[in-house]
Amino acid sequence: MSEPGLLALAQLSAQERALVEAARAASERAYARYSGYHVGAAVQAEDGRLFSGCNVENASYGATMCAERSAIFSLISAGARRIAAVCVYAPAEPMAMPCGMCRQVMSEFCHDAPVLVAGPRGVLRRSFAALLPDAFRLEPEERQS
Ligand code: THU
Repeated sequence: MSEPGLLALAQLSAQERALVEAARAASERAYARYSGYHVGAAVQAEDGRLFSGCNVENASYGATMCAERSAIFSLISAGARRIAAVCVYAPAEPMAMPCGMCRQVMSEFCHDAPVLVAGPRGVLRRSFAALLPDAFRLEPEERQS
C-alpha cells in the first residue's frame, strides 16, 4: 500500500529527521506485550527541547497509554507548554495515525503544529488542524496553568 504524500527522509528538514529518529528510537522501548504493535512518539517544545515516549500496555487493556500521550505528558511535566512539532513512528503496518484520544490531548498544546506519521516506508506530514478540525476547547478564565 502506498499513501499519497508519503515522503522520504531526505525530503524532510534536519530538525524533522531528528524528530523521526527520536520517535523511532522510542518505539524500540515500547511495552506492547498484548498487541505486539510497537509505537514511539517524539514532540518538540517551542524552545527546541525534544521529548519522547512509547506505548505502555497493561493486562487491563483500558489502562494502556499511547506513545503520543506518553511523550506529551513528559513535555508538560518538564515545564514546556506549546508543542512545535510531533512525530509518531511505528515499525510495522499500519502506520500509526494518532487515535482520537491522543488528538484531543494534542489539541490543548499543538495548535497548528506539523504532525509526522512515520514508518519504514516513509513519512506523512499533516498539520494538527487537519487531524482534528473543530476540536473541543474550553476557554477558562485566565489563571496560572
Ligand atoms: N497506539 C499508540 O501508541 N499510538 C497510536 O497512534 C496508535 C495506537 C498503541 C496503543 C496500543 O498499545 C497499541 O498501539 C495498539 O492499539
